[in-house]
Amino acid sequence: MTAPDPTPVEVETPFEVGLATEGLSKAFGGVQAVDGASVQFHHGKVNALIGPNGSGKTTFFNCVTGMIRADAGTVSYRGRSITGKAPHRIARAGIGRSFQLCRVFPRMTVLENMLTAVRPGSLPRLLASAHHRDDVERARELLARVGIEHLERAEARDISYGQQKLLELAGVLMADPETIMLDEPAGGVNPALIERIAELVRSLNAEGRTFIVVEHNMELVMSLSDHVVVFDRGRPICEGPPSVVQNDPRVLEAYLGI
Ligand SMILES: Nc1ncnc2c1ncn2[C@@H]1O[C@H](COP(=O)(O)OP(=O)(O)OP(=O)(O)O)[C@@H](O)[C@H]1O
Ligand SMILES: [Mg+2]
Repeated sequence: MTAPDPTPVEVETPFEVGLATEGLSKAFGGVQAVDGASVQFHHGKVNALIGPNGSGKTTFFNCVTGMIRADAGTVSYRGRSITGKAPHRIARAGIGRSFQLCRVFPRMTVLENMLTAVRPGSLPRLLASAHHRDDVERARELLARVGIEHLERAEARDISYGQQKLLELAGVLMADPETIMLDEPAGGVNPALIERIAELVRSLNAEGRTFIVVEHNMELVMSLSDHVVVFDRGRPICEGPPSVVQNDPRVLEAYLGI
């Protein structure tokens, strides 16, 4: 009798480093939200960043994108330092992001929201300057891509939360980012729109865009990602392909608190 073959282990091949941090830390008063996190995301892939509530994922995103200043540590993108740079500089380096709590202007139309996404600056100034034909054309193309072009004249507050998330994603695409960071794209979104978001991530990735996705919907994470990083208490505790991560006892422990 021969012994059964050992379960095949998915082995990751060498990868190109995209966004990376070394010893990134951020405390709020006594709370160490990000705690010396050293992470390397895979360029050209769909990366997921998961972890229990309060494990520091959003704070990590905020530090990396320059929204808040880290207390310590470095951030680099494709080998170049972006440590301490302002959000618009980081955007110019090719990194776009969405927010956990969707950021759209509720009283502006869907199309107007798209046009504000393209030119950071004061609201009156950008409204006055944004209506270039190219921008409008591009905005319409992207609205069609995410499937809400029929809503361009609706005020953002009148469309569903899931549609607002699609609007936010379309807005992120206005800047043509190479790497897209999404903070809970499926949170509070109905299943049909979750599927649409998943398909968009897949097709945008197939066209060469890198993703780093924070998400609690495990089915979505496991079906979408090439590489998963698991956070607990402000730092990575485990990483690898989905099939490896989901069977790692450290991950179960972090989630179940056992
Ligand atoms: N602005 C802030 N002021 C004070 N404490 C904060 C602030 N932002 C985050 N924290 C704390 O830092 C820790 C990490 O929070 P963070 O929002 O980064 O976690 P998360 O992993 O994104 O959680 P979730 O999955 O619930 O979105 C938490 O203890 C949180 O209460
Ligand atoms: Mg969060």
